[in-house]
Amino acid sequence: MLKLCLNTYAFTMMMMMIELLSSVPIQANDNLRVAYEWKEIDFKYANAEQRWMAIENFEFKPNNVIPFGIEVYRTRLFVTLPRWRSGVPASLAYLDLNVSSTKSPTLVPYPSWAAHSMNELEPELVSPFRIRADRCGRLWVLDSRIDGVLLDTKVYGPAQLLVYDLHNDNLLRRHIFPLKQVKEKSFFANLAVEDGECENTYAYAGDLGNPGLVVYSWRRDESWRVHHNYFHPDPLAGNYSIGSVEFQWDDGLYGLALSKAQSDGYATLYFHPLSSTMEFAVNTMILRNKTLATTGQIYREFKILGSRGPNAQAGASFLDQLTGVLFYALPNLNAVACWKTSNRAYTIKSQGRVYMSPVEMVFPSDVKVDDQDRLWVLSNRLQDFIYGELFPNSVNFRILTAHVKDAIENTACDIKTKPLPEIINKLGDILNTVTNPTSKTGSKSKASSISINCGLIIAIFGSLSLS
Ligand SMILES: *[C@@H]1O[C@H](CO)[C@@H](O)[C@H](O)[C@H]1NC(C)=O
Ligand SMILES: *[C@@H]1O[C@H](CO)[C@@H](O)[C@H](O)[C@H]1NC(C)=O
Ligand SMILES: *[C@@H]1O[C@H](CO)[C@@H](O)[C@H](O)[C@H]1NC(C)=O
Repeated sequence: MLKLCLNTYAFTMMMMMIELLSSVPIQANDNLRVAYEWKEIDFKYANAEQRWMAIENFEFKPNNVIPFGIEVYRTRLFVTLPRWRSGVPASLAYLDLNVSSTKSPTLVPYPSWAAHSMNELEPELVSPFRIRADRCGRLWVLDSRIDGVLLDTKVYGPAQLLVYDLHNDNLLRRHIFPLKQVKEKSFFANLAVEDGECENTYAYAGDLGNPGLVVYSWRRDESWRVHHNYFHPDPLAGNYSIGSVEFQWDDGLYGLALSKAQSDGYATLYFHPLSSTMEFAVNTMILRNKTLATTGQIYREFKILGSRGPNAQAGASFLDQLTGVLFYALPNLNAVACWKTSNRAYTIKSQGRVYMSPVEMVFPSDVKVDDQDRLWVLSNRLQDFIYGELFPNSVNFRILTAHVKDAIENTACDIKTKPLPEIINKLGDILNTVTNPTSKTGSKSKASSISINCGLIIAIFGSLSLS
């Protein structure tokens, strides 16, 4: 009797584990907390009078300001505020994480008010969408230089990369993309920085409008443009329905995320177009070699990872180098999801749900992990902002955060999740505990959370054999 019970137990446990593992993506703890939230963005002016003047002159129209990109370096949290319409007084600003007296702090223009003056012929900064602080203490700013994306468009020139020294906020470098790397409809919104070596850093700027990738070498102070079919949008993945607003987008290359450097010094760039459900990858050895990257011989070097499944168009992405977990925004699903790069397969089931909410995650706009391994997510209401308007009486923007370890807990990306064979090996321990109920060795082992008593097994098995 006991022997039968044990065999049945072992078998049922195995079946349960298989089911448990495959159902992991459904489990979620939505383990992020809202750190900041705003109904409207406000800026720190020298005094109240200057702020009023800016509003009176229509230099500051609060309803036209929307945060889009995020980055955290030490105690500063940076956000980009692209100039979709007029009335954005500064397109890059920050708040101090250590001054936490309010959940809706006013933002400080970065690096200064003067850098955002649009009265200049060539303003220092026009309209960046994404930024990246590298581990060498530099802030990389990808400036589209397009003012009024939605209305009264004015292009100040080709997109540019600005690199600031975060120790003193001085501008270290300005690289304007050469005209031949900028095409009709080009739109540079996304950026990844490969900072394995500070003096030999590479930046990757995605062109979503005319699909392509511009690679910039810090050491050579020069850039080149790479083409590939995988940068293009999927014409069948252009339908969006977010917060009851339905629309079509055909954006190409968008999410860019870099792995840790391998032993040879090169990394893997994970990428996807916005209007697509596919994920791709390429080794940076290919991209960093200018002669190679600009030839047609590299086609086969780009790999297809797999599909996220229906409605899983992905926006911004970022890879946590400590855990090797890739995080990405899923605007159509009001969610942020993850995938462990150590997985062999990229499928619907190998992905984990980090956070999903039609309220707090209406439009997940950017995702980052800082050097203290905290995950940061910026969520806004971009679909309302573009196709309608924002209502200043409701919360429109949120910044959510959690330690990566907590964010991925109990998801398919949990680094504690043991692969199947190891769990089966542990069954021996579980059985020992069951056969000898008085011994409480390892009573709070991982197995205990899924342990069920022998009587229940007999009941299940008994009812099965009855039918
Ligand atoms: C910021 O606050 C944290 C703890 O809240 C503290 O450890 C750190 O020293 C502070 N940093 C600065 C620059 O004040
Ligand atoms: C996109 O949505 C429209 C309706 O809004 C539908 O007619 C069309 O079939 C959809 N296209 C795809 C590729 O799903
Ligand atoms: C770049 O690629 C070319 C063509 O494959 C190769 O001959 C050359 O050695 C590569 N350069 C470097 C620095 O790897």
